[in-house]
Amino acid sequence: MKFQKKILCIGAGYVGGPSMAMIAYKCPDYKVTVVDINDERINRWNSNELPIYEPGLDKIIKKTRGKNLFFSKDIEKQIKENDIIFVSVNTPTKTFGTGAGMAADLQYWEKTARQILENSQSSKIVIEKSTLPVKTAAAMEKILMLAKGKVKFDVLSNPEFLAEGTAVKDLENPDRVLIGSHETKSGWRARQTLVEIYARWVPQEKIITSNIWSAELSKLVANAFLAQRVSSINSISALCEKTDADISEVAKAVGMDSRVGSKFLNAGIGFGGSCFKKDILNLVYLCSYYGLQEVADYWESVVKINEYQQDRFINNILGSMFNTLAGKKICILGFAFKANTGDTRESPAIYITRKLLSEHAEVIISDPQALKNAAIDLEDVKGSVKYVQDPYRAASGCHAIAILTDWDLYRKLDFRKIFKLMVKPAFLFDGRNVIDHKKCFNIGFNVYPIGKPALSHLNIIQND
Ligand SMILES: NC(=O)c1ccc[n+]([C@@H]2O[C@H](COP(=O)([O-])OP(=O)(O)OC[C@H]3O[C@@H](n4cnc5c(N)ncnc54)[C@H](O)[C@@H]3O)[C@@H](O)[C@H]2O)c1
Repeated sequence: MKFQKKILCIGAGYVGGPSMAMIAYKCPDYKVTVVDINDERINRWNSNELPIYEPGLDKIIKKTRGKNLFFSKDIEKQIKENDIIFVSVNTPTKTFGTGAGMAADLQYWEKTARQILENSQSSKIVIEKSTLPVKTAAAMEKILMLAKGKVKFDVLSNPEFLAEGTAVKDLENPDRVLIGSHETKSGWRARQTLVEIYARWVPQEKIITSNIWSAELSKLVANAFLAQRVSSINSISALCEKTDADISEVAKAVGMDSRVGSKFLNAGIGFGGSCFKKDILNLVYLCSYYGLQEVADYWESVVKINEYQQDRFINNILGSMFNTLAGKKICILGFAFKANTGDTRESPAIYITRKLLSEHAEVIISDPQALKNAAIDLEDVKGSVKYVQDPYRAASGCHAIAILTDWDLYRKLDFRKIFKLMVKPAFLFDGRNVIDHKKCFNIGFNVYPIGKPALSHLNIIQND
């Protein structure tokens, strides 16, 4: 079959895999290839056990793989053969040198730019899909400008707004697609090529275009705003716990104001995932770099509140359980950073587990999708942690349960059965406010939600 367009994506991760699968699915006459330096990842994309869990993804992969969607290890050959190249490599926080702990580590990004330069024999459109500091395109262009002869590159910014756990839904029906380009003739031409791809399934009014710097910055700011809402509601949950107000009632009343909106107002143990913290810190670094210290401080406080919320949760467990966890068994329900994903990157569960271990608790972890990743995250303490898929078996013999991920299945658990299996007094710390607290209290649990009065049968004075 002769394909209308040939598209390459460098980076077969949580973004590259699903976003390219969606293009292949919606555009059967385009050939889409995804490459990665990680051979194991490519093998898994080509197998029945995909490297990431996303609801609905396997169905799309089955429909496209081997027809117009291909996963390959031969990066150089694929760069030569494709004219439209998405780059969706990882851009983690820098761990060394200037900007360590704040700035984006652009080494994977720059290596990719050089690889594109070295292997291009014809002109190409290069599309930033990774989340990058504003002005990265300028750096990429400086590298690509070294091309010899007639080979020219147009760089576009097309940040990805999908959320893990709902990636397929988000890709199929996005709130918006953002495409940034230079305001030049060739920039507009390149932009139009990309608009045509998305226009196959995204309504025209949802495809927005901008200058390239606005597009790069919008992605950082979108994540910063989302994380800020989480930290805002979490900061108020602390006040609710002091004043007997109920955070769910406050969030409902506040969120019904159409200027505020109700989404992202669920109090919990804080945000995780590979993006929010990294992107805010990146924003903070950029603001400091440009001398905007007040702005930097403002956004950094969003991360600080997130850390504070996790510490509060641990201190609450410790204080409620008579200030000692030594030798006690604590069952963690949910290790993924959010429901419907197996991703544990920056999951609050990692920090909370380590803190519990430092108090000499025994930790039993249960999660429907994330146990493999949890074992990798906790490799250095592997002797002290147990992994049990079944939540009933995991809770059996435990002194406390801590719910750390909002998996729907936890709402449906038979807590009467669980209560019988646990050591008494049995404690239940609901870090995501997902279960029926009253019902669990009536069963006999001592229940500690976030931002709501605790429901305790213990008539003792507890530490704050
Ligand atoms: N995960 C999300 O929900 C999400 C959402 C929107 C945007 N983003 C952004 O998208 C980017 C990718 O995120 P991700 O979660 O997919 O990361 P990821 O770590 O899952 O995937 C990145 C992949 O790129 C590969 N890679 C690195 N250098 C390479 C190179 N030189 N050549 C070929 N492959 C290379 C890695 O092996 C890895 O498989 C990041 O900038 C992230 O901030 C992520």
